[in-house]
Amino acid sequence: MAILATENVSRQFGSVFAVERVDLTLNAGESVGLIGPNGAGKTTLLSLLTGDLRPSSGKILMDGKDVTSLPLYARVRAGIARAAQIPKTFSRLSVRENVSLPAFFGAGLAGDAASEWIDEVLEMSGLSDRAGKQAGALGLLDRKRLELAKAVASKPRVLLLDEVAAGLTEPEIASIKEVILRLQPNRAIVWVEHIPFALQGVCSRIVVMDKGSKLLDGPFDEVWASETLQSTYMGT
Ligand SMILES: Nc1ncnc2c1ncn2[C@@H]1O[C@H](COP(=O)(O)OP(=O)(O)OP(=O)(O)O)[C@@H](O)[C@H]1O
Ligand SMILES: [Mg+2]
Repeated sequence: MAILATENVSRQFGSVFAVERVDLTLNAGESVGLIGPNGAGKTTLLSLLTGDLRPSSGKILMDGKDVTSLPLYARVRAGIARAAQIPKTFSRLSVRENVSLPAFFGAGLAGDAASEWIDEVLEMSGLSDRAGKQAGALGLLDRKRLELAKAVASKPRVLLLDEVAAGLTEPEIASIKEVILRLQPNRAIVWVEHIPFALQGVCSRIVVMDKGSKLLDGPFDEVWASETLQSTYMGT
């Protein structure tokens, strides 16, 4: 059974269909890359999965159960977390404090169990030596690491990543990928990214969206070689 799925899901803003009749299935432990041109509806689809937005029509299913009307906090408890396109950190809190909040309130941990898990998350995300630093003083790569750390701190079974590699240099993307590969075991991932090199080796499957609709969905190499992708996404 799929860990997370959308059934014929749409979201309109006025007359614009940001997402239109999308069926998407995510199996436990699977990593899917979600690509498409600007405005394709990728971020909106992630927001529908997390409960940040309600669909105009269609359903969201988790473990086969209808969670369409479950609010954001309840979906975090059910095991969904997201790293946002624009990192949303508490800039005056330390790195450790930022990670603590989802460990306490998302994963429901307290005491030693919370401390140990926070240490582990900081280690996995490569932030252990900056744990006491103010989040607002971090550079872009470390802000992206922190965004990932905060998402994983709630112990999600499904991790949704929105352009966590955008704006980074190639060596920086390589180090963000290392973090994601450490977070990957026993976790399903949907990773929105424009950069093929980032997704390669992490995502075995690629979904392509354009103008709100799902155009392609298949194995990485097959989708990457397809003419539909070349013409819609690459604009050739
Ligand atoms: N809150 C909103 N109000 C009105 N229109 C919106 C809103 N959010 C998204 N849209 C519109 O929905 C469409 C899809 O936007 P979305 O942000 O999901 O695209 P995207 O694929 O994530 O693009 P990008 O690659 O630029 O991040 C766009 O036409 C956008 O202008
Ligand atoms: Mg987006």
